[in-house]
Amino acid sequence: MSGRSRRIKQSQIALAKALAPLVPNAAREAQLLLMHHLGCDELYLLAHAEDVVPNEAKLMEMLRRRMENEPLEYITNRVDFYGEEFYIDKGALIPRPETELLVDEVLRYVEKERSMQFVEVGVGSGIISIMLAKHLPNARFIATDISKAALEVAAKNIQKHSLQERIELRHTSLLDGVEEDIDYLVSNPPYIEEGVFLESNLSYEPQNALFGGEVGDEIIKELINLTLSRKIKFFSCEMGYDQKDKIQSYLINKNYKSLEFYKDYSGFDRGFTLQC
Ligand SMILES: C[S@@+](CC[C@H](N)C(=O)[O-])C[C@H]1O[C@@H](n2cnc3c(N)ncnc32)[C@H](O)[C@@H]1O
Repeated sequence: MSGRSRRIKQSQIALAKALAPLVPNAAREAQLLLMHHLGCDELYLLAHAEDVVPNEAKLMEMLRRRMENEPLEYITNRVDFYGEEFYIDKGALIPRPETELLVDEVLRYVEKERSMQFVEVGVGSGIISIMLAKHLPNARFIATDISKAALEVAAKNIQKHSLQERIELRHTSLLDGVEEDIDYLVSNPPYIEEGVFLESNLSYEPQNALFGGEVGDEIIKELINLTLSRKIKFFSCEMGYDQKDKIQSYLINKNYKSLEFYKDYSGFDRGFTLQC
């Protein structure tokens, strides 16, 4: 795609054509790139179809990045999760649709009005704590991450959703330094086995958000140990589709009340809640 001074409609068609061989929903991506470039919504694109696109070179640079398989979310700094809009950049993992099920899982176990102390380990962009805080008006959250860049993304989103009073960010590993009593621990930790070959678009995402150790489930097991030793009543966690058996075996002969697994939208095992 080349040329200067295109009109909005022309540009949208040309972007979609350039992206068509590379992405499944090229027309929608073209629209989103233009909306981001112009700082506008769908209606504006329609109403101003014949306006000239300003600064087309910048738009072409975004198209080049997308054609190199950089995720659209990192180019537009926007991601949708659980019906809400969030800021995203390369400092944090792009939220996945299946993580909405982890939010649902937690909401299944708690009464809406109860005042509870939550801790989220591995807050990333903040989407889990933010969505839980929106649904649980009396809950308080401490959210940890080892990545300063991820915490910066989370801080932006917490501010965007006006939840600074109830979500506190801490730069630490797991629960190190978190001395408060915890009612509910929640996490979508890194759980992929080191050395596994990943699709090229995943190379843009922070690798310490993806890889959980030599086997993959090391962080999950550390979080289970912390749940048991600190007598945390609930622990809900996302996991890899093939980790159910290992987690069940790990809990044999350990003292807990119940362990329930849930599946994702494709029917794969995707997480569990441990009650102590
Ligand atoms: C899979 S991402 C999840 C991010 C976000 N909660 C979500 O669901 O989109 C895992 C996050 O855990 C963080 N992390 C990795 N090891 C950690 C550790 N030992 N303690 C705290 N956070 C850790 C990573 O930096 C990353 O932000």
